[in-house]
Amino acid sequence: MPFVTSKELLLKADREGYAVGAFNVENMEMVMAVIKACEELHAPAILQTTPSTVKYAGLHMYHANVAAAAKRASVPIALHLDHGDSFDLAMQALRVGYTSIMIDGSKLDFEENIALSKRVVDACKPSDIPVEAELGKVGGKEDDLSCDDPGYTDPDDAVRFTKETGISSLAVAIGTAHGIYKGEPKLDMDRLSDIRKVVDIPLVLHGASGVPDAAVQECIRRGISKVNFATELRIAFSDGIKEYLKGDPDAFDPKKYCKVGMAHVTELVKKKILVCGSDGKA
Ligand code: 13P
Repeated sequence: MPFVTSKELLLKADREGYAVGAFNVENMEMVMAVIKACEELHAPAILQTTPSTVKYAGLHMYHANVAAAAKRASVPIALHLDHGDSFDLAMQALRVGYTSIMIDGSKLDFEENIALSKRVVDACKPSDIPVEAELGKVGGKEDDLSCDDPGYTDPDDAVRFTKETGISSLAVAIGTAHGIYKGEPKLDMDRLSDIRKVVDIPLVLHGASGVPDAAVQECIRRGISKVNFATELRIAFSDGIKEYLKGDPDAFDPKKYCKVGMAHVTELVKKKILVCGSDGKA
């Protein structure tokens, strides 16, 4: 299938009460492994790359790779720029053919975040490419991005922010963090419900690696329609490779050990699709 945009995937999920899994990919193997899981469970998905991933191989490389895999896939796939950290990077992703853009101005003050997000929305509008933005600060560390001073999303600010920017989806800060959690995360579920009551665009949960399945599902019941998973996929891929190399430390053919890494990613993504309830929704 040709690429779809995240907007169509998320509006359907929002209407039908499930969430679309958004999976961070780093290389061709992870792209193939994620799409295999989606096809096996007949689930739509968003594949996404952060700025540090983009630095690793280039937007054109991920676009070509995901587009080639998506074209042959039996399920709808969107390609999303995750945590776009500048107007320029967002425009590069748009020009290359990403079908969903996040501009992350959450480190800026409120007015600056509105201005930057609106600028990206206005630039994406002629191509009908949806924009996600973040209000409040998701804590933790996501490759090059770190935030030691998380701040929760205020529902009233969220109303003004979505109205003035014209974004298609909103990433909310309700207590999740990127990366590995030290203890069990405490999520502010009431805040999520309060935001849902006053904001009518799809809501996005970042930092879902390590969040218990029941908590992710509760977030979906309260209005989340996109759930981002990154760290657990990286761990699964690396664990598969380590497992293979432990048994065959002299292995030198990447096809041998990457295959095991891919199998681990496919198995994990299938579990996450079931948690999100997006199986059978393609
Ligand atoms: P995790 O690395 O915690 O899964 O977070 C993923 C994420 O939110 C990507 O934007």
